[in-house]
Amino acid sequence: MQRHLISAADLSRDDAVLILDTAEEMARVADRPIKKLPTLRGRTVVNLFFEDSTRTRISFEAAEKRLSADVINFSAKGSSVSKGESLKDTAQTLEAMGVDAVVIRHSASGAPYRLANSGWIDAAVINAGDGTHQHPTQALLDAFTLRRRLVGRDAGLGQDLSGKRVTIVGDVLHSRVARSNVDLLHTLGAEVTLVAPPTLLPVGVESWPCEVSYDLDASLPKCDAVMMLRVQRERMNAAFFPTEREYSRRYGLDADRMARLPDHAVVMHPGPMVRGMEITAEVADSGRCTAVEQVANGVHIRMAVLYLLLGGKESALTSPRPAEEK
Ligand code: NCD
Repeated sequence: MQRHLISAADLSRDDAVLILDTAEEMARVADRPIKKLPTLRGRTVVNLFFEDSTRTRISFEAAEKRLSADVINFSAKGSSVSKGESLKDTAQTLEAMGVDAVVIRHSASGAPYRLANSGWIDAAVINAGDGTHQHPTQALLDAFTLRRRLVGRDAGLGQDLSGKRVTIVGDVLHSRVARSNVDLLHTLGAEVTLVAPPTLLPVGVESWPCEVSYDLDASLPKCDAVMMLRVQRERMNAAFFPTEREYSRRYGLDADRMARLPDHAVVMHPGPMVRGMEITAEVADSGRCTAVEQVANGVHIRMAVLYLLLGGKESALTSPRPAEEK
């Protein structure tokens, strides 16, 4: 494992499988009455959020607390950043306070990389989403959810996602979730198809390790999972499609379309969902949609990442597994 987690593309197959397996160990802690491990006692983790977040921020905080770390939450709103302070000065302030890890979300692609490689701080840096670039822990929690659903909780240990087919649909152009997932799913042996209007596909997508299609209906019967993306209005500076109605009609997932999926296939969404746009309420609330499960799995994955980056080498659970958990 490297010292930082900046991009899903930096993970080897073995690194990724180790994180998924460690997350399964962490998941066992969540089944206990006392959901806490002493692993990061005395270590300080800062959550540095320059961009809005619900799931990712709460999930990292829950993961850090379950590992007994001291947690400092920083959001740009209400901080000296709104007075014009730079990332460098903010980083040096954190360094002066002696933090061990920084979890950063930033609207600028590359901000976590800069923080990790600038020499401003010594701490481990974890990217919690940077601009349209990367969101590696989201891809890991998606892979974890897929492995559990498609391979099995115990059967999946040590396994990757070889041969599984995943279709990712929607605003690929502005999506760090799509980029991270294409990288990680490819590393794990899955076959990825992107489906989007031509205006929402990035230049150079032909060189990505995936297929591209404009026909959602044709790709659904062949996939094991379909991942719906939110249209990232906040990153758009022009009109990328005629109307929302037109977009939903061609690229939205409703019950009729969902019926085209094979019986075992799941519907994924990283959240936040815009019901009625990329996904109907009926699909979002159906038993096939893993959105809420993905959130729960996010805590296990972030515990595993923090544990491994901050020096965990042996089995994550220090005490032997109690007999009833075997
Ligand atoms: C995603 C993000 O922020 O990139 N959400 C998340 O982290 N769960 C996707 C989105 O905002 O649409």
